Order: sequence, then C-alpha cells, then structure tokens
Amino acid sequence: MSRQRRNARNPRTRPSTGSGRTRGLSPGARQKGRKEHKPASQNWGRAAPTVNLAQEYEVETVIGLEEYTRREARRLLGKAAQVERGMTEGRFSLRFDGNIRRFDEFRTATAVHRVEEFAVPRPRALLGHQHLTRLLGIIHVILDARPAGAFRTFRITAAGAGSGVYSRLRREIVAATALEPTDDAAHLQIAVRRAPSDEGGWQVLIRTTPMPLSARRWRVCDMPGALNATIASVMTTLVRSRSNERVLNMCCGSGTLMVERLGLGGAASVTGVDIDTGALLCADANLRTLGHSASVSLLQADCANLPLPDACMDTITADLPFGMLPHDYDISSLYHAALAESARVAKPNASLVVITTRRRVLLSTIEDNPSWNLANQIPLSIPHRRGYIKPHIYLLRRGRIAGSRL
Ligand SMILES: C[S@@+](CC[C@H](N)C(=O)[O-])C[C@H]1O[C@@H](n2cnc3c(N)ncnc32)[C@H](O)[C@@H]1O
Repeated sequence: MSRQRRNARNPRTRPSTGSGRTRGLSPGARQKGRKEHKPASQNWGRAAPTVNLAQEYEVETVIGLEEYTRREARRLLGKAAQVERGMTEGRFSLRFDGNIRRFDEFRTATAVHRVEEFAVPRPRALLGHQHLTRLLGIIHVILDARPAGAFRTFRITAAGAGSGVYSRLRREIVAATALEPTDDAAHLQIAVRRAPSDEGGWQVLIRTTPMPLSARRWRVCDMPGALNATIASVMTTLVRSRSNERVLNMCCGSGTLMVERLGLGGAASVTGVDIDTGALLCADANLRTLGHSASVSLLQADCANLPLPDACMDTITADLPFGMLPHDYDISSLYHAALAESARVAKPNASLVVITTRRRVLLSTIEDNPSWNLANQIPLSIPHRRGYIKPHIYLLRRGRIAGSRL
C-alpha cells in the first residue's frame, strides 16, 4: 500500500473536505462547513460535502483559444457546468457540480484548477487550524479522485514561496499526504494568490490532474518543435471532420496533428509527410500507442514535391517550420512551394489549416497564390523561455481558379 493511500485512510491525518465559504453550497452544506473547527479526527467519517456540489474551477488554455475551450467545456460538461466569461487572458472560470475526472476529457484546455477562496488577510493565516483543515481536505478530494500513487510530488507557487510560512505549509502537506515537495514540475500543483475581488482575501488553486492536460498519454516520442497538442486539437476542429475525407498532414513531425485528428474519428485516409526520417519514426511511435499506425501512411518527401496525385485531399494541415532553422534557410521559398503543392493535391473546396509564427511570409505567400483564400486567422501567445512566441493559425479554402481544370 502506498504511503499516500495509507495516510488517506488514517483518521489522524485525514482532514474534513467541508468548505463553508464555497459559493453555491446548499444551506445544509454551509452548516457543515461552519463546524470545521472540530479536530480533523472528528470530521473523519462524515459525508464529504464538496464532491457533488458546484465548486469553482479555473480553466487554463493557450492565450487565443479561450473561446474554443469555453465551447468545449459547454459541450463536455453540459448543464452540470456554468461557464463564465474570461477573467484574464488564457483563463476563465467554471462552476461545476460533478466528478473532477470529467476534466480529463478536455482536448483544448491545458489545465483545470480547483479554486478555493479564504477570507484571510495574509497567507500566514492559512496555517490556522480551520483554514488548514479545509485546505488539506480539498487536497485530499483531488488526490482521492485517482488511484493511489497518481500524485507523488507537489509544488507550491506563490509570491514568497521560499518564506517560512510556505515552508510550514509544505511540512503540513507532507504530514497529511506523504507527497514529496519539489521546486520542479510536480504532480500536485498548488498556487496561492490574492483573490481578485475587492473584498480582499486569498485564493488557493490546485490543479485537478497529475499532469497538464496538454501532456497526452500517446506521446511516447517527443521532438524539439513538436506542436502543443491542445493547439493541434483546435486546428483539427476548424474543419468539420468526416469519415469519408482524405487528410494530409504536411511537415508532420512527431504526428501531433494526425493523432488529434484521429481522436475525432476515422477518415478515408490519413497521410503524413516529412522530409526527416527521425520525425517519421517518432510519428509512427506516437500513432502506434493508440493503435493508429495501420490507418496512416507516412511518406518521406519534400513538401515542395509531394508524391501524391492532383486533387486528392479534402483536408490538409501543416505546422510549417519556423524556428531553429539555419541562418541562410530560405523560408519564403519553402512556404511558396508548400502552398503551391498543397493547392495541387487539394480537391476543389478543400481546406488547409496552417500554423506558423512567420506571419508576414505566410500572408505574402497567400497573396501570391490565388488558389487559397484566407477564411480565418487566430492569433496565439505561448509562453516560451522568459517571453512568448506568437504564432497564428490560418484557415484557408481552396478556390477554383478560372481556366484551371481543378
Ligand atoms: C515545426 S516541425 C512540425 C512539428 C509537428 N507538428 C509535431 O507536432 O511534431 C516542422 C517539421 O517540418 C519538417 N520539414 C522541414 N522542411 C521540410 C520540407 N521541405 N518538406 C517536408 N518536411 C519538412 C521538419 O522535419 C519538421 O519535422
């Protein structure tokens, strides 16, 4: 039996999950919450009131994809969730009454955090018995939603996370859960911040999953420059997927766009093309994890010269090279060739979904190529080192060219 599970069953270390201040609780539940000052051992055995009542969560997504993730939240969680308008870029609130394992189904969110507000003047007060009991109770709700051992480490991020207050809080969490503290990426991510409301107070956010939602189980092979799977997921949903369509992924790298497309359902064919053998092996390994490898053709070829017939593809996706390129790399020629070749292999009215940071190069390439009409563009901001990279997703439609047979 793991230490975590053993402690979770130990009445001396298992605190109440009650939360008197949580908005949306029924009067009965609030009353239970007011009894939190009882020693943790006396709370053990009572029904956990927070699990099935609407709780506040914060959904994190790539900046620029908020509306897509909000839409997904409504579709996935239905009436059990109340999706609120955005608060800050890349985040929005959700009130949800149900099992937190439902959040595992998100494809476009990077994380969902439980949000708990504490009416305290400063974080030190979280160490008081009543608040600490409540906080540890919520941590246990999150740990207990998964098999023992799913969470092994935890990390607190906060202004002053190195202070004595947070050292004590870490010791309390270790004592109650047997999780190991770390300063690196952890299974249980706890953030402490000021409450945004004028009334003051502090909020504790706890990620509900042991890994970010963007870390997919199928990714057994990673490569530098691999696309964030949540972005790939949105790219694949910009075009309605059909079981009889032929799909091409140019510059497929590790296969992120193909795996995410196949996650939506089958297709008549899926073809991945890359110039690099290592990338194709990586894509193959990832596709195999989900048993997709037999349904996908992987071709080693230059996207300027695709070994495919004219007008054979319904949907084309491409994560064109834009970073880590040699100094003298002629990116404009590559983009011109890629758009011309994709136009050649595209059926009339086909769609091309492209992502790149090289905005000016891509827009001028589209201007020079009347086969493709720009239908939509989505600006994104992705944290990278100490700043952001700012790619755009472009949705293009294949038009008919006057006088052409295509
Ligand atoms: C940004 S990466 C794609 C990453 C991919 N979306 C993933 O998630 O792993 C660009 C890919 O384009 C490939 N590439 C570069 N030039 C190419 C060319 N001329 N023809 C085909 N593929 C090319 C690289 O080998 C690389 O795998």
